[in-house]
Amino acid sequence: GTAPIGIDDIELATSHHVVRLDDFAEANGTDPNKFRLGLGQDEFSFPAPDEDVVTMAAAAAAPIIQRSGTEGIRTLLFATESGTDQSKAAGMAVHSLLDLPSQMRVVEVKEACYSATAALQAAVGIVTRSPGQRVLVIASDVARYELDTPGEPTQGAGAVAMLVSADPKLLEIEPVSGLNSADVDDFWRPNDSTTAIVDGALSVTAYLDALTGAWSDLAAQGGPAIAEIDRVLYHQPFTKMAKKAQVHLAGLTGEDLDTEIVAGADAGSAGAGTAAANSAAASGPAAAAGADNSVATGPRDTGLATSTLYNRRLGNSYTASLYAGLCSLLDHDEDLAGKRIGLFSYGSGSVGEFFTARVVPGYEQHSHRLTVIEALDARVPLSIDAYRALHAAELSSAEDVTTPKVTAGPFRFAGIKGRARHYERA
Ligand code: CAA
Repeated sequence: GTAPIGIDDIELATSHHVVRLDDFAEANGTDPNKFRLGLGQDEFSFPAPDEDVVTMAAAAAAPIIQRSGTEGIRTLLFATESGTDQSKAAGMAVHSLLDLPSQMRVVEVKEACYSATAALQAAVGIVTRSPGQRVLVIASDVARYELDTPGEPTQGAGAVAMLVSADPKLLEIEPVSGLNSADVDDFWRPNDSTTAIVDGALSVTAYLDALTGAWSDLAAQGGPAIAEIDRVLYHQPFTKMAKKAQVHLAGLTGEDLDTEIVAGADAGSAGAGTAAANSAAASGPAAAAGADNSVATGPRDTGLATSTLYNRRLGNSYTASLYAGLCSLLDHDEDLAGKRIGLFSYGSGSVGEFFTARVVPGYEQHSHRLTVIEALDARVPLSIDAYRALHAAELSSAEDVTTPKVTAGPFRFAGIKGRARHYERA
């Protein structure tokens, strides 16, 4: 077909609770700058006992369905690393909570943090074949590492829902992708473990190797040169990783790219985040317009600071992380119309994909900045003791339980009965 295909609508949801890394640092006797500057993280979202990937996913998808109905939606692709069952797709519970039509296919897709990108590309394929159809893609994860391990401060929770259609309102996905797969044990989660196993140092080099491979494949496939890409988004297990990736890409291409992520003690508040984004956004157009030669000769602004604002407060959301970065960019950069964005998706194990998309003029009319910041601000902080107790609490499917009502979100995990998980509208 000739019609462009891509992301028509996008929404981000997160959990009820938050853990502040300043509190975490104090409890552990660590310098708070280890997290704010060393990892580029201020906080992490943490689910209440009556929340999981299903409740966050339904919360992200509900406003999209409310806005545009279910017409033509025949596929729901649910990407997650932290699924709730070995057999049944977590998307089935979302399908039920949102009263979606029964004339649909609902499946779960897995490859660590990468699988949302596979789902997105599959959705583009479906819409290419049947331009009248739309596909609901949901990425939802709870990132959990063992207590008292280096990964612990990079935990997090979040969901991004995207509606893929022809003639999209936000992003037109371009056909060329750079791909890289390599069998590596950098991060994984055995079937009998509720926390991820990770070789931290190896995971960082495996990520950068995948970027090298995907970038060179993009060139081999005839993709755009770095100078033809206006903004770059990366999978953000912690936002400092996006900076490492950006430095790496600058090395691969010889291009002078921005490498500053928002940093400092005030970056955690909504007001400061917005101010930082405004200044980041302000330097872009000014440099592009060449109004000031001293600005124009600095590194090119590809949105690194702007795209990391949400994630430094969410923590890692695995499959959703790259797309939370996309939300942050779309919500804060006012100069994106017609611009080309490069997106690097990485999933341990490992798969890397570098693809590109064009921003549709008028995208800024669909900003959800205030709703997202409100949701981040509304999270209820946990004391470190309360957080550790919640982290340690694990439900066995063998015992029937009714979960306490805690979440203020629209959907809740009601409990386990007869070994099956049950959900309800809150
Ligand atoms: N002030 C400022 N900076 C400080 C500091 C201080 N007081 N103390 C330490 N730092 C800096 C260090 O210099 C270091 O910076 P660089 O990375 O630039 O060298 C940074 O803080 C991290 O400190 P360490 O090197 O001591 O590393 P760590 O023990 O904190 O572990 C980690 C870091 C390995 C990433 C760990 O957080 C981890 O295992 N995370 C989970 C795995 C992960 O996210 N891997 C990313 C790639 S894999 C992937 O992307 C898939 C996925 O989602 C999991």
